[in-house]
Amino acid sequence: MADLQTLVDFGPRVAGSAAEQATIAMIKERMESYGYDVVEQEFELPALMEGTVTIAGVTYDNTRIAGGPGGAITGTLVEAGLGKQGDFANAEGNIALIQRGDIPFQEKVDNAVAAGAAGVIIYNNAPGGVNFSVQSDVPVVGVSNEDGLGMLANAGQEAQLDIAVLATQSSSNVIATKLPADGSTDADIIHVSAHIDSVPGSPGANDNGSGTAAAIEIARVLQDADLDKEIRFSFVGAEEIGLLGSKFFVDSLTDEEVARSIANFNMDMVATAWEPATAMYTNTLDGQHNLVTTTANTVAEMLGTPSQLVLLERGASDHVNFHDAGIDAANFIRREPGTANLEPYYHTPNDTMEHISQERLGEAIDLIGGSVYYLARQQ
Ligand code: BES
Ligand code: ZN
Repeated sequence: MADLQTLVDFGPRVAGSAAEQATIAMIKERMESYGYDVVEQEFELPALMEGTVTIAGVTYDNTRIAGGPGGAITGTLVEAGLGKQGDFANAEGNIALIQRGDIPFQEKVDNAVAAGAAGVIIYNNAPGGVNFSVQSDVPVVGVSNEDGLGMLANAGQEAQLDIAVLATQSSSNVIATKLPADGSTDADIIHVSAHIDSVPGSPGANDNGSGTAAAIEIARVLQDADLDKEIRFSFVGAEEIGLLGSKFFVDSLTDEEVARSIANFNMDMVATAWEPATAMYTNTLDGQHNLVTTTANTVAEMLGTPSQLVLLERGASDHVNFHDAGIDAANFIRREPGTANLEPYYHTPNDTMEHISQERLGEAIDLIGGSVYYLARQQ
Protein backbone atom coordinates (compact mmCIF):
# COMPACT_ATOMS: atom_id res chain seq x y z
CA MET A 1 0.00 0.00 0.00
CA ALA A 2 2.91 2.36 0.69
CA ASP A 3 4.35 1.67 -2.75
CA LEU A 4 0.96 2.24 -4.31
CA GLN A 5 0.64 5.54 -2.44
CA THR A 6 4.07 6.56 -3.77
CA LEU A 7 2.98 5.83 -7.35
CA VAL A 8 -0.25 7.79 -6.94
CA ASP A 9 1.65 10.70 -5.40
CA PHE A 10 3.72 11.04 -8.60
CA GLY A 11 0.47 12.23 -10.25
CA PRO A 12 -1.00 10.87 -13.49
CA ARG A 13 1.81 8.75 -14.91
CA VAL A 14 1.09 9.65 -18.51
CA ALA A 15 3.36 8.04 -21.11
CA GLY A 16 6.37 10.29 -21.70
CA SER A 17 5.68 12.51 -18.66
CA ALA A 18 7.93 13.42 -15.75
CA ALA A 19 5.66 11.36 -13.49
CA GLU A 20 6.24 8.29 -15.64
CA GLN A 21 10.00 8.96 -15.48
CA ALA A 22 9.80 9.23 -11.67
CA THR A 23 7.98 5.88 -11.62
CA ILE A 24 10.69 4.29 -13.77
CA ALA A 25 13.43 5.60 -11.44
CA MET A 26 11.60 4.36 -8.35
CA ILE A 27 11.11 0.85 -9.76
CA LYS A 28 14.70 0.61 -10.97
CA GLU A 29 16.01 1.60 -7.58
CA ARG A 30 13.72 -0.86 -5.86
CA MET A 31 14.51 -3.85 -8.10
CA GLU A 32 18.24 -3.19 -7.73
CA SER A 33 17.89 -3.08 -3.95
CA TYR A 34 16.24 -6.53 -4.11
CA GLY A 35 19.23 -7.91 -6.00
CA TYR A 36 17.65 -8.30 -9.44
CA ASP A 37 19.55 -7.82 -12.66
CA VAL A 38 17.89 -4.62 -13.90
CA VAL A 39 17.76 -3.17 -17.41
CA GLU A 40 16.02 0.04 -18.45
CA GLN A 41 14.74 -0.19 -22.02
CA GLU A 42 14.06 3.23 -23.49
CA PHE A 43 11.83 3.55 -26.56
CA GLU A 44 10.47 6.39 -28.68
CA LEU A 45 6.88 7.51 -28.44
CA PRO A 46 4.96 9.01 -31.35
CA ALA A 47 5.98 12.69 -31.67
CA LEU A 48 3.66 15.50 -30.62
CA MET A 49 2.77 17.35 -33.81
CA GLU A 50 0.50 20.12 -35.01
CA GLY A 51 -0.33 21.25 -38.48
CA THR A 52 -2.55 23.01 -40.98
CA VAL A 53 -4.13 22.27 -44.35
CA THR A 54 -4.36 25.07 -46.92
CA ILE A 55 -6.56 24.75 -50.00
CA ALA A 56 -7.54 27.51 -52.40
CA GLY A 57 -6.32 30.18 -50.00
CA VAL A 58 -8.29 28.79 -47.02
CA THR A 59 -6.27 27.50 -44.05
CA TYR A 60 -7.79 24.86 -41.81
CA ASP A 61 -6.03 24.69 -38.45
CA ASN A 62 -8.39 22.48 -36.50
CA THR A 63 -6.55 19.32 -37.47
CA ARG A 64 -5.46 16.15 -35.77
CA ILE A 65 -2.08 14.84 -36.87
CA ALA A 66 -2.73 11.11 -36.92
CA GLY A 67 0.60 9.76 -38.16
CA GLY A 68 3.53 10.11 -40.50
CA PRO A 69 6.44 12.56 -40.56
CA GLY A 70 6.44 16.34 -40.16
CA GLY A 71 7.28 18.79 -42.95
CA ALA A 72 5.51 20.69 -45.72
CA ILE A 73 4.04 19.00 -48.80
CA THR A 74 1.96 20.21 -51.69
CA GLY A 75 -0.06 18.39 -54.31
CA THR A 76 -3.40 18.31 -56.03
CA LEU A 77 -6.29 17.49 -53.70
CA VAL A 78 -7.74 14.22 -54.98
CA GLU A 79 -11.07 12.83 -53.83
CA ALA A 80 -10.57 9.20 -52.79
CA GLY A 81 -13.97 8.04 -51.51
CA LEU A 82 -13.76 5.76 -48.50
CA GLY A 83 -10.11 4.97 -49.19
CA LYS A 84 -10.69 1.49 -50.52
CA GLN A 85 -8.41 -0.10 -53.12
CA GLY A 86 -9.45 1.38 -56.45
CA ASP A 87 -10.54 4.71 -54.91
CA PHE A 88 -7.19 6.33 -55.69
CA ALA A 89 -7.21 7.34 -59.37
CA ASN A 90 -4.67 10.19 -59.87
CA ALA A 91 -3.55 10.04 -56.23
CA GLU A 92 0.10 9.41 -57.13
CA GLY A 93 2.22 12.27 -55.77
CA ASN A 94 -0.92 14.07 -54.61
CA ILE A 95 -2.99 14.55 -51.47
CA ALA A 96 -5.82 12.06 -51.00
CA LEU A 97 -9.03 13.23 -49.32
CA ILE A 98 -10.85 10.27 -47.74
CA GLN A 99 -14.11 9.96 -45.82
CA ARG A 100 -14.20 8.07 -42.53
CA GLY A 101 -16.18 4.82 -42.45
CA ASP A 102 -16.56 1.21 -43.63
CA ILE A 103 -12.90 0.13 -43.24
CA PRO A 104 -10.30 0.89 -40.55
CA PHE A 105 -8.28 4.13 -40.68
CA GLN A 106 -5.05 2.16 -41.04
CA GLU A 107 -6.38 0.32 -44.08
CA LYS A 108 -7.35 3.59 -45.79
CA VAL A 109 -3.87 4.96 -45.13
CA ASP A 110 -2.15 1.77 -46.34
CA ASN A 111 -4.19 1.89 -49.55
CA ALA A 112 -3.31 5.56 -50.07
CA VAL A 113 0.40 4.93 -49.54
CA ALA A 114 0.28 1.91 -51.86
CA ALA A 115 -1.29 4.18 -54.53
CA GLY A 116 1.61 6.63 -54.12
CA ALA A 117 -0.23 9.44 -52.31
CA ALA A 118 2.12 12.06 -50.83
CA GLY A 119 -0.30 12.96 -48.03
CA VAL A 120 -3.66 11.87 -46.62
CA ILE A 121 -6.59 13.81 -45.17
CA ILE A 122 -9.40 11.84 -43.53
CA TYR A 123 -12.60 13.70 -42.66
CA ASN A 124 -15.30 12.62 -40.26
CA ASN A 125 -18.50 11.04 -41.59
CA ALA A 126 -20.59 12.66 -38.85
CA PRO A 127 -20.58 16.21 -37.43
CA GLY A 128 -17.49 17.15 -35.42
CA GLY A 129 -13.80 16.30 -35.35
CA VAL A 130 -12.09 12.94 -35.55
CA ASN A 131 -9.44 11.36 -33.35
CA PHE A 132 -7.28 8.44 -34.45
CA SER A 133 -3.67 7.30 -34.83
CA VAL A 134 -2.06 5.38 -37.67
CA GLN A 135 1.35 4.21 -38.83
CA SER A 136 2.33 5.93 -42.05
CA ASP A 137 5.28 6.94 -44.22
CA VAL A 138 3.39 10.06 -45.38
CA PRO A 139 1.62 12.75 -43.31
CA VAL A 140 -1.94 11.84 -42.25
CA VAL A 141 -4.31 14.53 -40.99
CA GLY A 142 -7.79 14.12 -39.49
CA VAL A 143 -10.39 16.90 -39.92
CA SER A 144 -14.03 17.47 -39.04
CA ASN A 145 -16.89 16.61 -41.33
CA GLU A 146 -17.55 20.32 -41.89
CA ASP A 147 -13.94 21.05 -42.88
CA GLY A 148 -13.81 17.89 -45.01
CA LEU A 149 -16.86 18.91 -47.00
CA GLY A 150 -15.35 22.38 -47.48
CA MET A 151 -12.19 20.76 -48.86
CA LEU A 152 -14.16 18.37 -51.04
CA ALA A 153 -15.74 21.34 -52.81
CA ASN A 154 -12.19 22.28 -53.88
CA ALA A 155 -11.02 18.87 -55.12
CA GLY A 156 -8.67 19.33 -58.07
CA GLN A 157 -7.08 22.43 -56.56
CA GLU A 158 -3.59 22.70 -55.09
CA ALA A 159 -3.42 21.70 -51.40
CA GLN A 160 -0.67 22.17 -48.84
CA LEU A 161 0.00 20.28 -45.60
CA ASP A 162 2.28 22.00 -43.06
CA ILE A 163 3.17 19.78 -40.15
CA ALA A 164 5.50 20.78 -37.32
CA VAL A 165 6.98 18.41 -34.75
CA LEU A 166 6.46 20.06 -31.36
CA ALA A 167 8.27 17.49 -29.26
CA THR A 168 9.63 14.00 -29.35
CA GLN A 169 9.10 11.93 -26.23
CA SER A 170 10.27 8.64 -24.88
CA SER A 171 9.13 6.08 -22.35
CA SER A 172 10.93 3.12 -20.77
CA ASN A 173 10.38 -0.39 -19.57
CA VAL A 174 12.16 -1.65 -16.48
CA ILE A 175 13.10 -5.32 -16.81
CA ALA A 176 14.20 -7.16 -13.64
CA THR A 177 15.54 -10.68 -14.02
CA LYS A 178 16.26 -13.44 -11.51
CA LEU A 179 18.01 -16.58 -12.73
CA PRO A 180 17.30 -20.03 -11.31
CA ALA A 181 19.24 -21.05 -8.19
CA ASP A 182 21.82 -22.98 -10.25
CA GLY A 183 22.54 -19.86 -12.32
CA SER A 184 21.62 -21.53 -15.61
CA THR A 185 20.74 -19.25 -18.52
CA ASP A 186 18.74 -21.78 -20.51
CA ALA A 187 15.84 -22.37 -18.14
CA ASP A 188 12.19 -21.69 -18.88
CA ILE A 189 11.22 -18.04 -18.37
CA ILE A 190 8.14 -16.88 -16.44
CA HIS A 191 7.16 -13.29 -17.21
CA VAL A 192 5.33 -11.08 -14.73
CA SER A 193 4.16 -7.81 -16.27
CA ALA A 194 2.33 -4.66 -15.24
CA HIS A 195 1.95 -1.33 -17.00
CA ILE A 196 3.24 1.65 -15.06
CA ASP A 197 1.52 4.43 -17.01
CA SER A 198 -1.93 5.92 -16.55
CA VAL A 199 -4.29 8.07 -18.62
CA PRO A 200 -4.23 11.90 -18.39
CA GLY A 201 -6.23 13.28 -15.48
CA SER A 202 -6.43 9.99 -13.61
CA PRO A 203 -4.28 9.14 -10.57
CA GLY A 204 -4.32 5.54 -11.81
CA ALA A 205 -4.47 3.96 -8.37
CA ASN A 206 -6.12 0.80 -9.63
CA ASP A 207 -5.18 1.27 -13.33
CA ASN A 208 -2.46 0.36 -12.93
CA GLY A 209 -0.80 1.39 -9.68
CA SER A 210 -2.32 -1.79 -8.28
CA GLY A 211 -0.63 -4.15 -10.74
CA THR A 212 2.65 -2.24 -10.48
CA ALA A 213 2.66 -2.33 -6.66
CA ALA A 214 1.70 -6.01 -6.71
CA ALA A 215 4.61 -6.83 -9.05
CA ILE A 216 7.02 -4.88 -6.83
CA GLU A 217 5.82 -6.81 -3.79
CA ILE A 218 6.06 -10.19 -5.54
CA ALA A 219 9.62 -9.30 -6.57
CA ARG A 220 10.44 -8.37 -2.97
CA VAL A 221 9.07 -11.62 -1.58
CA LEU A 222 10.79 -13.80 -4.21
CA GLN A 223 14.18 -12.05 -4.04
CA ASP A 224 15.86 -14.85 -2.07
CA ALA A 225 13.75 -17.79 -3.25
CA ASP A 226 15.46 -20.86 -4.72
CA LEU A 227 13.85 -21.27 -8.11
CA ASP A 228 14.19 -23.81 -10.90
CA LYS A 229 13.07 -21.37 -13.57
CA GLU A 230 14.01 -17.84 -14.59
CA ILE A 231 11.61 -15.05 -13.71
CA ARG A 232 11.44 -11.69 -15.46
CA PHE A 233 9.46 -8.76 -14.23
CA SER A 234 8.55 -6.32 -16.98
CA PHE A 235 7.30 -2.97 -15.74
CA VAL A 236 6.13 -1.54 -19.03
CA GLY A 237 5.44 2.03 -20.13
CA ALA A 238 2.96 3.49 -22.61
CA GLU A 239 0.28 0.82 -22.35
CA GLU A 240 -2.53 3.35 -22.43
CA ILE A 241 -1.51 4.69 -25.83
CA GLY A 242 -1.47 1.32 -27.56
CA LEU A 243 0.40 -1.35 -25.52
CA LEU A 244 3.67 0.18 -26.78
CA GLY A 245 6.04 -0.76 -23.95
CA SER A 246 5.13 -4.44 -23.87
CA LYS A 247 5.36 -4.56 -27.66
CA PHE A 248 8.86 -3.10 -27.49
CA PHE A 249 9.84 -5.56 -24.75
CA VAL A 250 8.48 -8.67 -26.47
CA ASP A 251 10.05 -7.58 -29.78
CA SER A 252 13.39 -7.25 -27.96
CA LEU A 253 13.39 -10.92 -26.95
CA THR A 254 15.50 -13.23 -29.10
CA ASP A 255 13.89 -16.27 -30.72
CA GLU A 256 15.73 -18.36 -28.19
CA GLU A 257 14.25 -16.34 -25.31
CA VAL A 258 10.76 -16.52 -26.76
CA ALA A 259 11.15 -20.29 -27.05
CA ARG A 260 12.09 -20.44 -23.35
CA SER A 261 9.15 -18.22 -22.34
CA ILE A 262 6.41 -20.42 -20.92
CA ALA A 263 4.07 -17.95 -19.25
CA ASN A 264 3.06 -14.31 -18.83
CA PHE A 265 1.16 -13.25 -15.74
CA ASN A 266 -0.08 -9.72 -16.51
CA MET A 267 -1.68 -7.69 -13.75
CA ASP A 268 -3.87 -4.73 -14.69
CA MET A 269 -6.47 -3.38 -12.22
CA VAL A 270 -6.27 -5.97 -9.43
CA ALA A 271 -7.32 -4.02 -6.32
CA THR A 272 -10.50 -2.02 -6.79
CA ALA A 273 -12.63 -1.60 -3.67
CA TRP A 274 -15.75 -1.33 -5.86
CA GLU A 275 -18.02 -3.77 -4.11
CA PRO A 276 -19.54 -5.63 -7.07
CA ALA A 277 -16.09 -6.59 -8.45
CA THR A 278 -16.01 -9.76 -6.37
CA ALA A 279 -14.43 -11.93 -9.06
CA MET A 280 -10.87 -12.14 -10.32
CA TYR A 281 -11.06 -12.49 -14.09
CA THR A 282 -8.34 -14.21 -16.02
CA ASN A 283 -8.48 -12.79 -19.54
CA THR A 284 -6.94 -14.72 -22.40
CA LEU A 285 -6.94 -13.80 -26.07
CA ASP A 286 -8.73 -16.96 -27.20
CA GLY A 287 -10.93 -17.42 -24.15
CA GLN A 288 -9.26 -20.77 -23.53
CA HIS A 289 -7.32 -21.94 -20.50
CA ASN A 290 -3.54 -22.02 -20.76
CA LEU A 291 -0.60 -22.65 -18.43
CA VAL A 292 -1.18 -19.31 -16.69
CA THR A 293 -4.87 -19.77 -15.95
CA THR A 294 -4.62 -23.45 -15.00
CA THR A 295 -1.73 -22.67 -12.64
CA ALA A 296 -3.72 -19.81 -11.08
CA ASN A 297 -6.73 -22.09 -10.59
CA THR A 298 -4.59 -24.79 -8.95
CA VAL A 299 -2.93 -22.27 -6.65
CA ALA A 300 -6.24 -20.54 -5.81
CA GLU A 301 -7.50 -23.89 -4.58
CA MET A 302 -4.32 -24.56 -2.58
CA LEU A 303 -4.48 -21.10 -0.96
CA GLY A 304 -8.23 -20.98 -0.51
CA THR A 305 -8.35 -17.73 -2.49
CA PRO A 306 -11.66 -16.10 -1.50
CA SER A 307 -12.59 -14.76 -4.94
CA GLN A 308 -14.00 -16.77 -7.78
CA LEU A 309 -11.72 -16.97 -10.83
CA VAL A 310 -13.53 -16.35 -14.13
CA LEU A 311 -12.09 -17.06 -17.57
CA LEU A 312 -12.91 -14.45 -20.24
CA GLU A 313 -11.84 -13.81 -23.85
CA ARG A 314 -10.43 -10.30 -23.77
CA GLY A 315 -7.37 -8.32 -24.88
CA ALA A 316 -6.87 -4.61 -24.12
CA SER A 317 -3.78 -5.05 -21.98
CA ASP A 318 -0.15 -6.11 -22.27
CA HIS A 319 -0.84 -9.86 -22.33
CA VAL A 320 -1.80 -9.30 -25.99
CA ASN A 321 1.83 -8.86 -27.02
CA PHE A 322 3.02 -11.94 -25.13
CA HIS A 323 0.18 -13.96 -26.65
CA ASP A 324 1.05 -12.69 -30.13
CA ALA A 325 4.59 -14.01 -29.65
CA GLY A 326 3.16 -17.45 -28.88
CA ILE A 327 3.59 -17.24 -25.10
CA ASP A 328 0.80 -18.52 -22.80
CA ALA A 329 -0.55 -15.28 -21.34
CA ALA A 330 -3.38 -14.00 -19.19
CA ASN A 331 -4.41 -10.70 -17.66
CA PHE A 332 -5.65 -10.62 -14.08
CA ILE A 333 -8.35 -8.02 -13.48
CA ARG A 334 -11.18 -7.58 -10.98
CA ARG A 335 -14.69 -7.34 -12.40
CA GLU A 336 -18.27 -7.95 -11.46
CA PRO A 337 -19.15 -11.60 -12.08
CA GLY A 338 -21.80 -12.19 -14.73
CA THR A 339 -21.72 -8.69 -16.22
CA ALA A 340 -17.89 -8.40 -16.35
CA ASN A 341 -18.36 -4.72 -15.46
CA LEU A 342 -15.38 -2.63 -14.40
CA GLU A 343 -15.56 -0.12 -11.56
CA PRO A 344 -17.03 3.29 -12.47
CA TYR A 345 -13.74 5.04 -11.49
CA TYR A 346 -11.92 3.49 -14.48
CA HIS A 347 -9.99 6.19 -16.45
CA THR A 348 -11.46 9.00 -14.32
CA PRO A 349 -10.05 11.37 -11.68
CA ASN A 350 -11.75 9.09 -9.13
CA ASP A 351 -9.32 6.22 -9.62
CA THR A 352 -7.82 7.10 -6.24
CA MET A 353 -6.47 5.40 -3.10
CA GLU A 354 -9.90 5.82 -1.56
CA HIS A 355 -11.21 3.20 -3.99
CA ILE A 356 -8.44 0.69 -3.37
CA SER A 357 -8.95 -2.43 -1.26
CA GLN A 358 -5.86 -3.46 0.68
CA GLU A 359 -7.37 -6.89 1.18
CA ARG A 360 -7.90 -7.41 -2.55
CA LEU A 361 -4.41 -6.12 -3.32
CA GLY A 362 -3.08 -8.72 -0.89
CA GLU A 363 -5.21 -11.40 -2.48
CA ALA A 364 -3.81 -10.61 -5.93
CA ILE A 365 -0.24 -10.70 -4.61
CA ASP A 366 -0.84 -14.06 -2.92
CA LEU A 367 -2.55 -15.54 -5.97
CA ILE A 368 -0.21 -14.32 -8.72
CA GLY A 369 2.92 -14.45 -6.56
CA GLY A 370 1.96 -17.93 -5.38
CA SER A 371 1.32 -19.03 -8.96
CA VAL A 372 4.69 -17.74 -10.16
CA TYR A 373 6.45 -19.46 -7.27
CA TYR A 374 4.56 -22.71 -7.83
CA LEU A 375 5.44 -22.74 -11.52
CA ALA A 376 9.04 -21.63 -10.94
CA ARG A 377 9.61 -24.51 -8.52
CA GLN A 378 8.71 -27.17 -11.07
CA GLN A 379 11.66 -28.84 -12.70
N1 BES B 1 -6.66 -1.59 -17.68
C1 BES B 1 -7.24 -1.05 -18.85
C2 BES B 1 -8.45 -1.75 -19.40
C3 BES B 1 -8.55 -3.22 -19.42
C4 BES B 1 -9.80 -3.69 -19.53
C5 BES B 1 -7.51 -4.14 -19.42
C6 BES B 1 -10.01 -5.02 -19.57
C7 BES B 1 -7.73 -5.50 -19.47
C8 BES B 1 -8.99 -5.92 -19.55
C9 BES B 1 -6.21 -0.81 -19.91
O1 BES B 1 -5.17 -0.09 -19.35
C10 BES B 1 -6.84 0.01 -21.00
O2 BES B 1 -7.42 1.02 -20.75
N2 BES B 1 -6.74 -0.49 -22.23
C11 BES B 1 -7.29 0.18 -23.38
C12 BES B 1 -6.77 -0.45 -24.66
C13 BES B 1 -5.33 -0.13 -25.00
C14 BES B 1 -4.93 -0.87 -26.25
C15 BES B 1 -5.09 1.36 -25.14
C16 BES B 1 -8.80 0.03 -23.43
O3 BES B 1 -9.35 -0.99 -22.98
O4 BES B 1 -9.44 0.96 -23.94
ZN1 ZN C 1 -4.70 -0.66 -17.43
